[in-house]
Amino acid sequence: MTVSVRGEAKTAEPNTGDPTIVEVKLGARSYDIVIGRGIIASLGARIAALRPGAKTFIVTDETVARHVLAGAESVLDRAGIKKDSVVVPPGEGSKSFGVFERVCEAIIASRIERGDLVVALGGGVIGDLAGFAAAVVRRGLDYVQVPTTLLAQVDSSVGGKTAIDSRQGKNLIGAFHQPILVVADTALLDTLPPREFRAGYAELVKYGFLGDAAFFDWLEANWKDVFAGGPARDHAIAVSCRAKAAIVARDERETGDRALLNLGHTFGHALEAACGYSDRLLHGEAIAIGMALAFDFSATRQGLVSKAEAARAIRHLAAVGLPTRISDIPGPLPPLDRLMELIAQDKKIKRGKLTFILVRGTGAAFIETGVEAAEVRAFLSEKLAGR
Ligand code: NAD
Ligand code: GLY
Repeated sequence: MTVSVRGEAKTAEPNTGDPTIVEVKLGARSYDIVIGRGIIASLGARIAALRPGAKTFIVTDETVARHVLAGAESVLDRAGIKKDSVVVPPGEGSKSFGVFERVCEAIIASRIERGDLVVALGGGVIGDLAGFAAAVVRRGLDYVQVPTTLLAQVDSSVGGKTAIDSRQGKNLIGAFHQPILVVADTALLDTLPPREFRAGYAELVKYGFLGDAAFFDWLEANWKDVFAGGPARDHAIAVSCRAKAAIVARDERETGDRALLNLGHTFGHALEAACGYSDRLLHGEAIAIGMALAFDFSATRQGLVSKAEAARAIRHLAAVGLPTRISDIPGPLPPLDRLMELIAQDKKIKRGKLTFILVRGTGAAFIETGVEAAEVRAFLSEKLAGR
């Protein structure tokens, strides 16, 4: 593949050829997200262009290693880039102190120095874990994200949030550390299990819900093509990355607007925690239920959006096969008091008020800091009774 690092179009109309490049504009820390089918073949050339002579250290998980590691390594070999790697177990359990220590020690043992690069090859778990290791080993190494799940391509690989989990909650130990490059090869998604693809779709359609009604209209008409692959998939990923890049450029540290990306996350994180971060409920599935609840709450409890518009959003999530109701979660859930504790832990209660991302319509989310905890409790009680 011929690589033209400069001069590629920065637009993202559906196309069948060149990769799309979206720039995350953060001054001296700006970087490109490169999106396209088969573009992992250009990884070595892109890294060599950005950091001539740098060595690399790949962090990946066992499943991704089976599908992609050998190919990624040979691409680096062909560009004359030295590489080492560590392979960790798949799943959220790898965002732990134990695995984090293993990854840090392996990076140090491979004599990676400042000026060299960590490569996060995997889904959101690997991106968060490797990104955090890169943030702290030798007081900070540069890293490249090579996201291999839909969720990682549209969300977690962009924006520099890195973290591992504490026993007391998810993502509680971490750092903001931006990558220097994101290479999102959409062909890598072909091996993703359908359930994982759907979970990633929840984070993709979120951009429509939170700020882009036209994108939601387009997804309603074209979602089957997004699932099938090809130009529609690449287009949807590019639109999502552009939306996220714009928000991150405005508010890198989440002091304002970036919180909009948490649409569905307050309910979602509580449900995910209630299921013990297990296979019972994947992160994206929890966010799908959380977004459905946010629309429902905005319509029925806050009168912000019509019931018909909320129903349309929820109908779309269900149509793609995502769960939308608490009753869709298999197995037992903790009682209401515990769910409220989990919600309070995720977004602290201040004088009985919670911060939620609510909607005035599709594409019109906003941050509401004054939601009465009692109102949320009554709403959840009603939803739990429906189980
Ligand atoms: P994941 O990384 O666990 O990947 C899901 C599963 O798919 C894993 O079993 C993995 O091995 C497998 N897999 C990955 N790529 C594959 C491929 N190409 N083919 C076949 N199988 C493949 O999970 P995820 O859904 O990508 O990410 C979830 C994580 O992301 C959570 O920890 C969440 O907190 C985090 N997250 C972070 C941010 C952020 O901004 N940093 C945003 C959203 C989510
Ligand atoms: N996924 C939320 C954020 O990046 O801010």
